[in-house]
Formats: sequence, C-alpha cells, structure tokens
Amino acid sequence: MDSRILPPPYKNKTIEFINLIPREEREKAIAEAGYNTFLLRSRHVYIDLLTDSGTGAMSDRQRSAMELGDEAYAGSESFYRLEEAVRKYFGYKHMVPAHQGRGAEHIMAKALIGPAGGFIPNNMYFTTSRAHQEFAGGTWVDVSIDAAKDPASDFPFKGNIDVEALDKVIEKRQADNIPFVRIEASLNMAGGQPFSMGNLSLVSRLCRRNGIFLLLDATRIVENAYFIKEREPGYADKPIAQVIREICDFTDGCTMSSKKDHFVNIGGFMATNNETVFAKAKELVVIYEGLHTYGGMAGRDMEAVAQGMRESCENEDLVKHYLSQIEYLHDELKSRGVPVAEPPGAHAVFLDAKKFYPHLPQSAFPAQMLAADIYLEGGVRTMERGIVSGQHGEEPYDGLELVRVTIPRRVYELAHLKYVADTIISAYRRVAAESAYGGARGLKMVYQPPSLRFFQARFERL
Ligand code: F0G
Repeated sequence: MDSRILPPPYKNKTIEFINLIPREEREKAIAEAGYNTFLLRSRHVYIDLLTDSGTGAMSDRQRSAMELGDEAYAGSESFYRLEEAVRKYFGYKHMVPAHQGRGAEHIMAKALIGPAGGFIPNNMYFTTSRAHQEFAGGTWVDVSIDAAKDPASDFPFKGNIDVEALDKVIEKRQADNIPFVRIEASLNMAGGQPFSMGNLSLVSRLCRRNGIFLLLDATRIVENAYFIKEREPGYADKPIAQVIREICDFTDGCTMSSKKDHFVNIGGFMATNNETVFAKAKELVVIYEGLHTYGGMAGRDMEAVAQGMRESCENEDLVKHYLSQIEYLHDELKSRGVPVAEPPGAHAVFLDAKKFYPHLPQSAFPAQMLAADIYLEGGVRTMERGIVSGQHGEEPYDGLELVRVTIPRRVYELAHLKYVADTIISAYRRVAAESAYGGARGLKMVYQPPSLRFFQARFERL
C-alpha cells in the first residue's frame, strides 16, 4: 500500500471487467470519434476518467434501499424520505427533485429569471449552468477571482467570489436587474477549487443587503466542506455535516447533481427556503421533468440519492479517501515534471495542455489534442476543459486550456491510478520528444453544434 493513499473505508463486492484494446484499434477508435473523447464507445476505453458524474460505485445499502422505492406517480414515500434527508443535511425547507443537475438548473433559471432577463454573477461558469442562464434570457457575468484563471496559483480558495467585483456589478446593474448570484462549490472549471466560509459569508451578506437570491451549486459540496475543514482556521474539529449545513445556511437555495457526491447513476434536485421560488419551481417541474414528487426520477432513484447523501455527509472517511486519491495522482505527476494545475482539487487532476505543446496556438486545440494523445497512449479517457468547453466565438482566447483527469468515487484502486500516472507521463515524454522536431500541428474543428459544443464537436488532425 502506498502510504500516501488512505485505505478505502469499503471493499469490493461486485466487479466489472475492463480491458485494454491494442494501440492500432485505439488509433482507429479515436479517429472515428473525431478526436473527441466524448464520442468514444466505452468498450474502447480501459480506464474511464472522463467524469465523476454518474460513474461512482453505489453501496450495498444504496442498492438495497432501491428495493424500497415507492413508484407511486404521486406522493411517493421515496420522495418524502429524500425530502427528509435534504432537510436534515442541507437544511432547506423545500425540495423539488429533478432527473439530474441540469434539470434543476433549467427549472431554477426559469423560476428566477423573469422576462426582462438580467445579469447573473457567477464564480466562473459551469457549462450547463451558464447555458441555462442564457437560454432563460439572462446574461452570465464572471465574478471569480483572478487566481481561479491561473493554473499555477496555489491559492487555497480559488472558488471564492471577488466580493469587490460583485459589489461593482450590483452598483452598475442595480439589484433589480440581478435575478440571482450563483456560487459553485468546488469550482469545477477552475480545477475543483473550494470557496472559503469567510468568502461565502461576505457574499451572503452582500446579497442579503441587496435583496438578491444567492443560489448554491451544491454538486461537490462535501469536498468543498472538507477543504474548509483542512484549510480554514476554526473548522478542523467540526463534523463535515455541520460544515455542509453552515454553507447552505448562508444561501437561499441550491441546485444539485447527485451524480457526484451521492454516488448515484442519475438524480438531482433543487431546494430553497423561499416560498415564491419554490412555488414557481413546482409549477415548472411538472412541465419539464415530472410531477413535483418525482421530478424525472424513479422512486428507487430517490431512495439511492437519499442513502448516498447519508453516506457522504456522515462518513467523513469517504471524502478523506477520495481526496487522497486526487492528491496522490497530482503528486505522482507533478514529481515527475508533468505540468498540472495547482493545488489538487476536489474531483480531478487538471493538466496544463499549453505546456505539453508549447508551440501550439490555442486555436489548434491543445487540450483536445492532449485528451486524444492520452487515450492513444494507454486507453485512458479524459476530458477537454479549455477552449472547446468555452463558448462559441470566444476563440482565439487566452484562457485556461486544461485536460481533466477525473476520478469516479469508490471505483478505482491504487494500481489503476499508478497506471494512469505512468500513461500520462509517457504521453508527456512522447510529445516533448516530438516537439523537439517541430511537434504535432494540433487539430482543426470540422463540426460543432450550436451549444455545449464540446460534447459532440468533431476534429481532424492538422
Ligand atoms: N454543476 C456542476 C458544478 C457540474 O459539475 C455539473 C455536471 C452540473 C452542474 C450538471 O449536472 O450532469 O447532473 O446535469 N458535471 C459533469 C462533469 C457533467 O463531468 O463535470 P448534471
């Protein structure tokens, strides 16, 4: 056992077979996928680190809870059990289920943004969250701190909101034109980086003073809470459940993709203390998701979410082990010279693709290229988080150009992570050697859909 990784507080009971197909087949598979790892078939993938979303392993307790699912169309007992768990761990009075995070984002954006649109300050963006704000007629405004855009900065709270910038937006746009402020826990696009409780309390105070709804994206709240315990004075001895409650208490509502922290394959919800927003969300959910007591989830799925929430909020060893896996992979790569984003975050290690191919302009899609090269090297699937995940018309753009190596919860073991590190290191050495001779020329985009293009865009090698 490598002492850097804590032993997992669980053992395997069911396993799934995986295998590595030969390099020639991987070459064919990635070309057929248009050099987009989202378009690979999973049978062609050996270790799947595309996402931590819906890919975690459920516990025996979750699976047995599913047997108790009440599949009544209306008034399902499973709904009430989930509502009780949300009240207990998140503290919000009202909960509306949704089939997954973006279902909740869709409803909340529509519930909060009126016909006049308005400006929505966010700590950076998440792809689907921003898309729903824009589809609902809002204008996304970035109020993340500068360190969030610098992969080399090891500032411990890169998920913070720039309070001064937020204050200026409120002054310039007026509170009436700001339907809500969104703060994301463990800020995904900046590397899974937390906000501090100190920052959240300032943001909360500013929003309350101006009567602006503060919406939490609670998707990775457990990891954010654990980072607060580790990095912010005064929190080390508080139970994780208490830190989670304290975070939620500073906000007026949340959207949640349970596919991450709650280890389920599908599910999510929105929750709030605000009666008007709750009434609106209930009205909208029946149009887009399902009746307000199932919102697109089966009764069994709601049971799995409720049990997953109990596990993640009560068993601190789970998050501790998970974060030690991320830190291990980060350190293993960094110590061998691979350019990684700092500091280790919540759910993934982020590779700085610009440094893999220093000769490539961002318009040649270095992160897209790197994800394809890592797949070719060892059958490991990762995800582009750079210019393609950004918005149309933003290139050429000198922003983050990262590849996300995302670890699903409770799935892979130390030997898998070691293999992943070796694969990335050998890909790094290979492209560095090639760069000495001019290097690869990158990719050109040959197809892009009108929104969220990273999912389906296709590329060819230049
Ligand atoms: N918010 C955050 C911070 C997310 O990371 C995600 C999904 C969502 C909302 C949307 O939730 O997928 O259940 O609809 N993130 C996944 C990822 C897709 O790979 O990072 P969803």
